[in-house]
Amino acid sequence: MKTEDSPSNKTKPFKAEDSLKDIVALSKRRGFVFPGSDIYGGLANTFDYGPYGVELLRNIKNEWWRTFVHSRDDIVGLDSSIMLHSAVWEASGHLKSFNDPLIDCKNCRARLRADQYLEEKHKISTIDFDLEQIKEIFRQKASEFSCPQCGNKNTFTEPRQFNLMFATKMGSLKDTEEMVYLRPETAQGIFINFRNIVDSSRVKVPFGIAQIGKSFRNEIIARQFVFRTREFEQLELEFFCVPGSQKEWFDYWLDFCSQWLYSLGISKENLRSRQHETKELSFYSDNTVDIEYNFPFGWGELWGIASRTDYDLKQHSKHSKKNLMYFDAARNESYLPYVIEPALGLNRLFLCILADSYRIEKPNTKEQRIYLKLDSRLAPIKAGIFPLQKKDGLLEIAQKIYKELAKNFTVDLDQNGSIGKRYYRQDELGTPFCFTVDYQSKTDNTLTVRYRDDLRQERINIDRVSDFLRDNLANG
Ligand code: GAP
Repeated sequence: MKTEDSPSNKTKPFKAEDSLKDIVALSKRRGFVFPGSDIYGGLANTFDYGPYGVELLRNIKNEWWRTFVHSRDDIVGLDSSIMLHSAVWEASGHLKSFNDPLIDCKNCRARLRADQYLEEKHKISTIDFDLEQIKEIFRQKASEFSCPQCGNKNTFTEPRQFNLMFATKMGSLKDTEEMVYLRPETAQGIFINFRNIVDSSRVKVPFGIAQIGKSFRNEIIARQFVFRTREFEQLELEFFCVPGSQKEWFDYWLDFCSQWLYSLGISKENLRSRQHETKELSFYSDNTVDIEYNFPFGWGELWGIASRTDYDLKQHSKHSKKNLMYFDAARNESYLPYVIEPALGLNRLFLCILADSYRIEKPNTKEQRIYLKLDSRLAPIKAGIFPLQKKDGLLEIAQKIYKELAKNFTVDLDQNGSIGKRYYRQDELGTPFCFTVDYQSKTDNTLTVRYRDDLRQERINIDRVSDFLRDNLANG
């Protein structure tokens, strides 16, 4: 399996407004994402999601679940274990094939992917090569090849296969310890529960099983903020269909997933589909299209739509010796269903949403304004509530509004700093509306509502604030 991105990722269009640096800075400044283990100097490539990051992640997951599970009568959910029996990875092929070729520099200890080094530094495409052929190139060209980090020539070790699965031990006593792997994809938890779900639910092919959860890959080169990390979260659907209907379902899911991204407001010109070449396909797939996003560092895979044939069910049937055939009463026949798998990375969609919604108005002027033009379903905070002053009873009115709204909406009561600063903060959080309680509120029971995108302001009655949010927040 190739875990690195497409060759097309090499183009790096300059996108001034939403450079990665700005997004990383905003993420830290506003409590979306912090470097992992920060107070201990950080742990490379780990990230912690702060108060607003966690809300954004939850909103994305909720929207996905609502669209892919709750709104459909042909998809059910699952939450399987992160640690599965080792036999699962034997059967799935991950123990044997989930590898990347790796080289180390003996001088500076830089660790690189051999295939990427050849492609990026020497324009040698390795798509057709196996490990032996890659080794041969390194043998022949050892004296010419130099390490990009220290510049020394002839210092690379021989390329070695590096399995991307994290291994750990289960059990507390040395002699009873059992080796287990942290799952590198949530998909296998679904396949091994296929029988359980068919037997316990009323599902009939065609149907899907959806799962959201953490996956782990010991990526050699993890980089580009939360784009590629060793611990990440996936939203995966395995859709089981009648053999022969896979092409039709593949097209259906590619379109369905694209439409969902558009519906979240992600700009169409920053999304594209890329068909995998045959040589590039994962070991389980006979057709894959990646939905790519034009990240600040270039095009990168966001969502892989793969046709997995009956590979996984066949393998698990063989290795577990359990009958995973499905009896189709309508057709009066038994078969192993074929599978279409839309597999989405939560953290990549998170980054895509931040990048796509990032706006700078009047840049480099005194009136510069940064805001996130987030779909209100995704916005971590739906409304900010500001008392103009803490005194004269204004805070009490704002607190009462907050209490009422908090029953149904995620809202923020902000009483610190000037109103301008409070607007600025909520803009950077992508909050669609701000309510300001002022002295007029005391006389006519109204407040000011300010719209994030066009800065419009109007007065509404305090008793209508809840209805206002209900009417104005998108509900999909
Ligand atoms: N079950 C199939 C599967 O896991 P994949 O293309 O390897 O396929 C699916 O992964 C999605 O998971 C990718 O499109 C990407 O969004 C996300 N993903 C994969 N590796 C990742 C990593 N190291 N860090 C963050 N997201 C990752």
